[in-house]
Amino acid sequence: MRKKLVVGNWKMHGSRAANAELLAGILGARPFTCDVGVCVPFVYIADAAVSLAASDIRWGSQDVSPHEQGAYTGEVSAKMLRELGCRYAIVGHSERRAFHQESDQLVADKAKTALGHGLTPIVCVGETLEQREAGQTEAVVKRQLSAVIHTLGHCAGEMVVAYEPVWAIGTGRTATPEQAQAVHAVLRAQLQAATSHAETMKILYGGSVKPDNAATLFSQPDIDGGLIGGAALKATDFVAICRAAG
Ligand code: PGA
Repeated sequence: MRKKLVVGNWKMHGSRAANAELLAGILGARPFTCDVGVCVPFVYIADAAVSLAASDIRWGSQDVSPHEQGAYTGEVSAKMLRELGCRYAIVGHSERRAFHQESDQLVADKAKTALGHGLTPIVCVGETLEQREAGQTEAVVKRQLSAVIHTLGHCAGEMVVAYEPVWAIGTGRTATPEQAQAVHAVLRAQLQAATSHAETMKILYGGSVKPDNAATLFSQPDIDGGLIGGAALKATDFVAICRAAG
């Protein structure tokens, strides 16, 4: 039985005051049965580290540089994130693939650098509505995951995968539990072919997860928790989703 994991992706939201209130709400609702994490904007990581240090809630970033260090203005290295106690780094979120032209290989390189510094990469994959309607869902997610599997090699078993259909992100349009499970099963099979750890690896679902749909999504056999955007910004909603992973 895989322990469920629920991770909040705050995206570019928050303020020091709002974050403190949100984290206090999450901390006050402990204990949780599932593992819980928050991936916050870079500038708030140090604050999150202080707030969460004495708890079992983990924190992480929403991106990481593929480079070790050097003249890469504006980038943040895995080593820096690790120094601030980050446990996770989201890589390949569809917003970065779309707005920052991140390729499958760049995402894979970021995942590799993250792992090399003890960060668990949460690797996002997912198809657009156009791709789904053209019957390409399976091919797209397999291509995206395949780049990461090949680049990580024998370490592939250490990543967390997040299936996030682009058409479900921030739209209020969730994949049905059956639609999500079907893709998760494809991803699990792909991991099985590549690593001996596939049965213990976590595959999260993301895309309009809310308190009222979380439990049915999380009850699917290959859905091991969620990557939560909008609903992670309100403590009561995020806590309710963590409970649903229970
Ligand atoms: P959403 O975002 O929950 O707001 O749809 C999920 C994500 O983008 O990780």
